[in-house]
Amino acid sequence: WVLMATGRSPTNIAVIKYWGKRDEALILPVNDSISVTLDPDHLSATTTVAVSPSFPSDRMWLNGKEISLSGGRFQSCLREIRKRAQDVEDEKKGIRIKKEDWGKLHVHIASFNNFPTAAGLASSAAGLACFVFTLGKLMNVKEDHGELSSIARQGSGSACRSIYGGFVKWCMGKNNDGSDSIAVQLADEAHWNDLVIIIAVVSSKQKETSSTSGMRDSVETSPLLQYRAQTVVPERVLKMEEAIKSRNFESFARLTCADSNQFHAVCLDTSPPIFYMNDTSHRIISLVEKWNQSEGTPQVAYTFDAGPNAVLIAPNRKNATILLQKLLYYFPPQDNDLSSYMVGDKSIL
Ligand code: DP6
Repeated sequence: WVLMATGRSPTNIAVIKYWGKRDEALILPVNDSISVTLDPDHLSATTTVAVSPSFPSDRMWLNGKEISLSGGRFQSCLREIRKRAQDVEDEKKGIRIKKEDWGKLHVHIASFNNFPTAAGLASSAAGLACFVFTLGKLMNVKEDHGELSSIARQGSGSACRSIYGGFVKWCMGKNNDGSDSIAVQLADEAHWNDLVIIIAVVSSKQKETSSTSGMRDSVETSPLLQYRAQTVVPERVLKMEEAIKSRNFESFARLTCADSNQFHAVCLDTSPPIFYMNDTSHRIISLVEKWNQSEGTPQVAYTFDAGPNAVLIAPNRKNATILLQKLLYYFPPQDNDLSSYMVGDKSIL
């Protein structure tokens, strides 16, 4: 027999960035972060997990290609979920798995992303969150979302925020065992429904420096990272929570852009420096900054993760439409590497 479960998790885009770990093994961050979870129809991972007594080992396929599970982050999540597995009964198939038997059974996992992997679009976040959630479903794990977020965190830090929709805060926590380093939902999907997110795919190539090694180098060498984590982010997180609660786009946009810029400044302050943005990314920032300045108030916000792709957040469809027109005018797809635009989140243009 084979028993299967399938799940889908969206990716999330940080508006206050996580960059730096205080514990590499448990994936504990040096500061809180805040993100918005996208609509699963646009950028998401879909994972099917199957269990059968005829599987001789655990195996995993990512976008159709087998990947190694040994010692990896998927392995820590698998171990944590297995520990919490409960009895499962499928009357129709006549299958009964007792919780003590889960340790003897192996799983096959197949995961697909509907967007470029490792191009700085936080694909690991959706993938790991989906893996934990689906495995938990298959193994009848009873833990709440907070607990699942802390398991997903051990796969990839940003994954813990994809357990929830809407606006999510990953609380860094104080405990050495990571028990209080969990994600909490600040507001649900319906709270700020007018926002439109446009992702300009500047390059879908794999990034050169992974987030994991990049942030390790920053922790070891960047004095700005310490200042950011201790002095800047705590205050910014409070202001961002307030902006989200009151749907104050002006404050939301200023904080989002400033935080993206500071994160990339930390990357430059790292030795050797890390360049995630390219010339097209910088030109997109200039375009948005000029537009915002000419109107006297933010029309759109930008944020960039560990790659050159721009995530642009508009307060409504009107601004999103103007933005798309500007992007298409200044970056016609044929004469640069800005290959496509993906429109995500709650509303589609
Ligand atoms: C720039 O979560 O990919 O996207 O914990 O090492 O897996 P690991 O790193 P990861 O880092 C994401 C960094 C970021 C900012 C963010 O999402 O907050």
